[in-house]
Order: sequence, then C-alpha cells, then structure tokens
Amino acid sequence: MTLASVANTIQSMVLSRTNTGSKPLVLLASGAQLFTDISYGLLSKIDRSVPSASSRIDRILMDHRDAHRDDTADVQKVAIVTGANSGIGFVTANALARAGYQTILACRNPELAQEALDTLKRQTGLENFEVMQLDLASLESVNGFVKQFKAKYETLDILVNNAGVMMCPYSQTKDGTEMQFGINHIGHFALTTQLLDSLKAAKGGARIVNVASLASYMTTGIDYSAIEDKENYDRNNNYAMAKLANVTFSNALARKLQGTNVTVNSLHPGSIKTNLTRHVGTGAIMDTIFNMVLIDAQAGALTSIYLALSPDVEGASGKYYSRCEATNPHPKALDEAEQDRLWKYSENLVAKKHASM
Ligand SMILES: NC(=O)c1ccc[n+]([C@@H]2O[C@H](COP(=O)([O-])OP(=O)(O)OC[C@H]3O[C@@H](n4cnc5c(N)ncnc54)[C@H](OP(=O)(O)O)[C@@H]3O)[C@@H](O)[C@H]2O)c1
Repeated sequence: MTLASVANTIQSMVLSRTNTGSKPLVLLASGAQLFTDISYGLLSKIDRSVPSASSRIDRILMDHRDAHRDDTADVQKVAIVTGANSGIGFVTANALARAGYQTILACRNPELAQEALDTLKRQTGLENFEVMQLDLASLESVNGFVKQFKAKYETLDILVNNAGVMMCPYSQTKDGTEMQFGINHIGHFALTTQLLDSLKAAKGGARIVNVASLASYMTTGIDYSAIEDKENYDRNNNYAMAKLANVTFSNALARKLQGTNVTVNSLHPGSIKTNLTRHVGTGAIMDTIFNMVLIDAQAGALTSIYLALSPDVEGASGKYYSRCEATNPHPKALDEAEQDRLWKYSENLVAKKHASM
C-alpha cells in the first residue's frame, strides 16, 4: 500500500463515519482530513521511496507519448487551462505543452498572463503556448473567450478548469453572483457548457478536468439561500460550497456525457503553498510552518496532469481523485437529485444573465 493510498483510506474512513449532515461533526472531520493531508505532504517530503513530482510528471508524459504513438501528426491537439498564470495551473500548462498540445493560458490579467507565457516558453524551449483573456467573474468575458476560441479552433482535446479564489471578503461578480461561487463554479459551468461541442468534435476523445478541493467536504451541502446571503456571509462555507459544486457539476456532466467520447473528472490537488491563500492572513510563523509542511505547485499539479494525460484513466468519468487515485467524494456530490438541482440553478443563473446582456 502506498503512502497516498493510506492517506486516501484514512480520509474515506473519516468521511464515511462523520458525514451525517451535522455541522460539528463535519467540522471535526474536516480538521482530521486537513491533518491527514498535511501529514501526507510532510511524509512524502521525508520518505525517499516517494518519487519526486517532476519525475512522476515525466513518467505521465512518456506514457502519454507511448499511447499516442500512432496519432496522425497533422492533427493539432488543443488544451485550455484556466488560471494558468500561477500555481497549479502554470505547472499544468507546462506539462500539456510538453505533451504536444497547443496550450491556451486562459487568464484574467493580461500582464500576468504574458509574463507566464514568456516564462513557460523559456522553461520548455517550446512555442506552443498562447494567451486568451478570460475573466470567470464576468459571463460576458466567458462568452468573448468562447467566441475567440471557436473562431480559431474547431476542436478542443483537454479543458482544465483550474482557476479559483479562496475565502475572499464578500464581493460579487459582474453578474451579481457571490464571488467565490461565481468564479469557482458558475464561470466554469458557463465556459464548459459552451465548449461541449468543441470537446465532442475532438478526434480520439476529449477530457475535462475540474480542480475541486478537500474543502468540498467542509460543508453539510450546498445551501442555495446561503450563497447570496451577504448579511450572514461565511467565507469558509462559501468556498466549501463552491468546491462541492465543482465535484457535483463534474458528476452531473459525466451522466450527461455518457455515450460520448468526452470524459470529466474532479480532484483535490493536495495542500499546496500558492497565491490562493492571499485572502487568509497567516503571519510569519504560520508561513514558515506552511512552507515546511505544504507540498509545492509541481506536486500539486500532479493529479491534474494525470487526469488530463495518463492512459491509466482513459474512459474513466464521473470520478473524484486525490493523489492520482480515485476516492470517495462528499456523498451529496453522488446524489443525482443534488446534481440536477445544481445544474438547474446554474443554468437558470446563466440564462438570466444572458437574457439581460
Ligand atoms: N493551493 C491549495 O492548497 C489548493 C487546495 C485545494 C484546491 N485548490 C484549487 O486549485 C486551483 C488552483 O489554485 P492555486 O492553488 O494554484 O492558486 P493560485 O496560484 O492563486 O491560482 C489561481 C489562479 O486562478 C486565477 N483566477 C482567479 N480569479 C479568476 C478569474 N476571475 N478569472 C480567471 N482566472 C482567475 C488566478 O489569476 P490571478 O493570478 O490573476 O489572480 C490564478 O491564475 C483552485 O481552483 C483552488 O481552489 C488549491
């Protein structure tokens, strides 16, 4: 049994015993899950038998190359990574370009995106990167991105929905949705549903990868009346609900995509030191501790890269992964009534905004 399986098994056991819908138990379970995650991060740094993240990424790229040896060379394969200018998205974009995909960095800030593009080209010596502006906090921007993409490309092979914000103070997207739910879920819902035709047209199948989080367990479920409740805004719970929405949306979409050549999976990337914690004041001492125990972005991108490229998960869909292994999601994400409710809620919200544009 690997260190990763041990950590996943402990987390599944905690989940199965505590997810009764009671808030104190959920909070207790969340603490235990986070502790396991951080312990794994620390142990994987100490345990010399755990291969480095970069060697595991190289292995995935080799497996991908072997599996695609017979592909026609004149078919250009295309990948999109949202939030590719930093953290996990940046490392994921690096790997997808090295696997031969024309890799689109879908980023909100043009300067940061250009900087990332220059660094990626320098790091890899490759030219197959480009920037397309995408602000997931604006449905108009999502529409503009999709238009620009479709004007240039007929097919899409890989979509990595990676961008996210965590625990920001209360604010709203340009369309009036609470920011965390709006960026993490609604923006990606609108983007993905508008790109489904391009994904279905990909020769040899396409993959959607949704970067969720362990935080998806840290709530009793999606409370639709709480999402927009500015007075009682709970930034922890809203992040957890947005991440649970990522997993629930994945599973709903997997059902809708049955019988097509498009797969969709979600994942927890690990507990990683990135810019994501910008809204969480930690202080110098906590920062030093975090640097010791949290994994780096290279290790954090491993499961995204695995799901996007590895032949091991060919055909797998509607599953939730952690540390490159399928594991149990929050039980509500498996509930088809919950999936349908989230789909209707998201669809109505997007349709309402489109009608007013
Ligand atoms: N770090 C962790 O421990 C951890 C754990 C579990 C899950 N995750 C998930 O992993 C994903 C990547 O996060 P990360 O840790 O790599 O953090 P990060 O370095 O902060 O990356 C987040 C990316 O999302 C982008 N983004 C934010 N708002 C956006 C918007 N409105 N439109 C387009 N892009 C936007 C950011 O762009 P700017 O640079 O312009 O802000 C950035 O490129 C997130 O979905 C996060 O929830 C992370």
